[in-house]
Amino acid sequence: MTDDGLNGRIEKLAALIAGSSRIVVFTGAGVSTESGIPDFRSPGGIWDRFDPEEFTIFRFLESPGTRLKQWRLLIESGLIANAEPNRAHLAVAELERLGKLDCVITQNIDNLHQKAGNAPDRVYELHGTMNHARCLGCRQRYAMDDLLPRLRLDEGAPLCPACDGILKPDVIFFGEQLPAEALRQAVERSRRCDLLIVVGSSLVVYPAAYMPVYAREAGAAVAIVNLTATDFDPQADVVIHGKAGEIMPLVLEAVRRNLGMTGGTAA
Ligand code: APR
Repeated sequence: MTDDGLNGRIEKLAALIAGSSRIVVFTGAGVSTESGIPDFRSPGGIWDRFDPEEFTIFRFLESPGTRLKQWRLLIESGLIANAEPNRAHLAVAELERLGKLDCVITQNIDNLHQKAGNAPDRVYELHGTMNHARCLGCRQRYAMDDLLPRLRLDEGAPLCPACDGILKPDVIFFGEQLPAEALRQAVERSRRCDLLIVVGSSLVVYPAAYMPVYAREAGAAVAIVNLTATDFDPQADVVIHGKAGEIMPLVLEAVRRNLGMTGGTAA
């Protein structure tokens, strides 16, 4: 893409943001790769190293052996590395401070939007979170930070410290229902927003990937900031192919100029 094409698209997205008040930001694993967390479908991503067929709720419940394999995937894949938000997350948090953000709908389980400063009640985690695990027997909930140091994967799949029941991370496995309230809110807000910005998603996993479709159907503008092309690109008002950690701060700089704000926090 020629440089003025890039600058022109950044200015166009910034103008859409400046003129919007109910923005939904929809994120996928690509918003966190610059925080050191691998995505799933880029070359070398998680599904290049692990078999998604193993990562279903049926396999998780099938045996201690398959459960152990999935705990290992979550821990050894880098999905729950002690990561820090990057400048893309900080830019999304700034949209909230500017009073422009309705909510973040994320497919990620890394809690980085909340760590970047987005209010937890404005972040809808469609695929759950690695922040907690729950016992399927006594329903006791544990913070992952407390559990991780106590996990002995060489002794087998983690068990509930209280009742030795099956411990399951709060992530949504393939074949599992998405959290009903988070999905309901995500659909309703995608249908009510005036701008939906996709950041770092291949838009291939449903029902999450329907959110830009709902926004489009409701007459909202849709923008995509992604390293590679997605099937939704032709229907988007603005498409910027590039690294979210580089693009999003430039977009917020242009928004601040649009709003006549000098300086402002560097995202
Ligand atoms: N900046 C912008 N985009 C990026 C960056 C980056 N730094 N790094 C990667 N990307 C893009 C990739 O090009 C890819 O199109 O982000 C996208 C990530 O796509 P996926 O790896 O498919 O991740 P995601 O869309 O979140 O997957 C959805 O699939 O396996 C399930 O549950 C898992 O939530 C996940 C779901």
